[in-house]
Amino acid sequence: SFNFKNITEIIYERLDRRIINLLRLIGVYGNEMKMPVYVVGGFVRDLLLNIPNYDIDIVVEGNGIEFAKYAAKQLNAIVVPYEKFYTATLVFKDGFKIDVATARTEYYEKPGDLPQVDVSTIKKDLYRRDFTINAMAIKLNPNEFGVLYDFFNCQKDLEEGIIRILHNLSFIEDPTRMIRAVRFETRYNFKIEEHTLEILKRNLEANYLERVSGARIRQEIEKILEEKQPLVAVRRLAELGILKHIFPKTYYTPTMDEKLERIFRFLPLIKQRYQNISDFYAISTVLLEFYDKETLEFMRNRYGYPKKFIESLKFTENMMLPLKSMVESKLAFSDIYKVLGKGNPYIFIHLSAYLDDDGQQYLIRYIDAILSTKLEKVTGKYVMEKFNLKSGPLINEILEKLYAMKLDNPSLDEVSTVEKIFEETQNKIKQAEVSENTNR
Ligand code: CTP
Repeated sequence: SFNFKNITEIIYERLDRRIINLLRLIGVYGNEMKMPVYVVGGFVRDLLLNIPNYDIDIVVEGNGIEFAKYAAKQLNAIVVPYEKFYTATLVFKDGFKIDVATARTEYYEKPGDLPQVDVSTIKKDLYRRDFTINAMAIKLNPNEFGVLYDFFNCQKDLEEGIIRILHNLSFIEDPTRMIRAVRFETRYNFKIEEHTLEILKRNLEANYLERVSGARIRQEIEKILEEKQPLVAVRRLAELGILKHIFPKTYYTPTMDEKLERIFRFLPLIKQRYQNISDFYAISTVLLEFYDKETLEFMRNRYGYPKKFIESLKFTENMMLPLKSMVESKLAFSDIYKVLGKGNPYIFIHLSAYLDDDGQQYLIRYIDAILSTKLEKVTGKYVMEKFNLKSGPLINEILEKLYAMKLDNPSLDEVSTVEKIFEETQNKIKQAEVSENTNR
């Protein structure tokens, strides 16, 4: 029938020769093991959309692990089995990977269940998946190579740009699919179909998302943030009410939207300067603004924010407005330093949410000054010996003063400047003594 057409031509037009050869071989090994084998899911979706995708997911009707071991031997690859899930990963010499699974009826294994090889058909395997666009398979065995298995009119949804669940329990089986729905909607500029949207909202209001571990929610949000249009996706999460079930005390106002927009504009600049910046923490700087202590502690437990991150967030929260005007009026770095200090990347990101483009540029100049400025000659030891001082807060005060001045003037002479700073502090101490005496 129409739903099982042969798409070999598309395969040859759109895929690399190397991938085609690999798929052909996998089909041959399927025959040798007497198992039907398919490539499924996102790979098929993107092939039909003509978008490159190198995540090959294989499903076997039979024993997936046995099949993977056999294929690995033939292909000179390493096999990493996950016995519990009847799945395996093939890892090739060059690092290329292929996932192999056994066709299954349940999306999730119930923990504690005895391993029972519950071999299912490809149709049932596809039915348990998230959305129709991800529920197609292409047969790989030689006699049927290139036949598209489309049981649920998936191709039609793909062509019409529709995100549709396959059955009404889909979001209950895996509530993170609510977030995935928005991710695919945004990525392909598709629309969640009406009935699916209704079920989504119903399950959302029944607090199914709250039953999922914070780690899994966070993973899905991180995936959304890796997409090309993260802000569009976050907006949609807010619009559908999903965001409220992830950040319960966040009000998605036009101001919040603008803050996020500014953060997304600033992120590439900060990533050029710091490694391992997490987009999830970055947006959290504003999403978690003005949270009460208890809810913050709850959020920290749920999503695994480092204690330091939360502490620094709270510490700097009330400084954002003063800092905004300082940066936008381009105050000297030494003055900003008095308030902001050396800061950290997430404080800078938080501040960037308050800054226009010009302000962000100035903040970047400040960050570059901080990153490139070091005291070369004058150290604590130097100050103590030179001015005959005992260790104490005064030493640090002098060094900080000198550092701040060097931020404004990178070529200043440390040795002569530190002398001036010391004289000034001496004068201040004397004046304080005089005024204390006259007050008496
Ligand atoms: N899947 C699912 N439910 C989920 C996650 C995944 O049914 N919660 C199924 C889908 O059929 C999906 C496949 O598993 O196509 C692979 O999942 P994943 O790699 O997470 O997604 P992709 O569809 O490959 O999307 P991406 O392009 O973002 O990798």
